[in-house]
Amino acid sequence: MTFDLSSWLPTAQARVERLLADRMQVIALRTPERLAESMRYSLLDGGKRLRPVLCLAFADALGGGGTMAEDGACAVECIHTYSLIHDDLPSMDDDDLRRGRPTNHKVYGEALAILAGDALSTDAFSILSSGPDAESTARARMTATLALAAGAGGMVGGQVLDIADDRAATKDYLVRLHRMKTGALIKAACRLGVLAAGGSAAALEAAERYGEDLGLAFQIADDVLDATSSADALGKPAGADAAAGRFTFPAVVGLEASRQLAHELVARAKDSVRVVEPIAGPLAALAEYSVERTR
Ligand code: IPE
Ligand code: IPE
Ligand code: MG
Ligand code: MG
Ligand code: MG
Repeated sequence: MTFDLSSWLPTAQARVERLLADRMQVIALRTPERLAESMRYSLLDGGKRLRPVLCLAFADALGGGGTMAEDGACAVECIHTYSLIHDDLPSMDDDDLRRGRPTNHKVYGEALAILAGDALSTDAFSILSSGPDAESTARARMTATLALAAGAGGMVGGQVLDIADDRAATKDYLVRLHRMKTGALIKAACRLGVLAAGGSAAALEAAERYGEDLGLAFQIADDVLDATSSADALGKPAGADAAAGRFTFPAVVGLEASRQLAHELVARAKDSVRVVEPIAGPLAALAEYSVERTR
């Protein structure tokens, strides 16, 4: 019997929605109302939740990671959401539509959008680093994992490569850029799940290889969707990369070669993850989903 992602994923996403709403409620207790509203607007507006779902799926495949896995899942989604708020700003991609709604700065203004992103990026680490003493070693490793992936050598550095004046229209440059701006957080999400569950070194290595391949495939698919889909289907602008003069996979290697490469990466990710999931289940299916998705 093959695993049915279409019935599994909505339940996993609903679990993430509940966890995020709980964490946001706690944060709001000590936050100025307008800031909390702006954070809530972007955090609780129903993205695909791929990163938190991956974190929880890895933990569950290894016997469960309890509150630590749930905190890891929420923390990585907070970082991801902040990256989207800032990515949409006029000084970056200057986009008006995100997840089917006006972007954060369109609703709350640029200053509050920047600050909501700042708060989400910092509060991610308050969520991740707070817990009982017995968890402090695991939480410290998880905190380092997320910080390294989000920072200058990860997502932020990748965003800089994306807008650099001297960016190169070569496959090598794009691979490096995509691995940093998108792959790093996806790989970190996988690592977080393993660390929360106390997985073996072999499990950690498998999660890294899987996350690295899936992460690159996911951003290639994002580029392909930008070039081939519509704003209605995506819930964000289509054709925006070409309009902004971004170097994307379809622009540099062509559409068919992009699709082909994404599928090769997914096949390799599915291979790697057998160490953690010997019978194909959520993790194998999520790898396929990352390139076959329509939004
Ligand atoms: C969009 O990420 C930005 C990229 C890194 C490609 P997602 O496609 O995961 O966006 P949401 O969270 O589902 O809205
Ligand atoms: C953004 O890549 C990746 C981030 C780190 C936010 P894109 O600029 O392609 O993401 P979208 O297409 O706006 O979601
Ligand atoms: Mg961008
Ligand atoms: Mg963008
Ligand atoms: Mg894009």
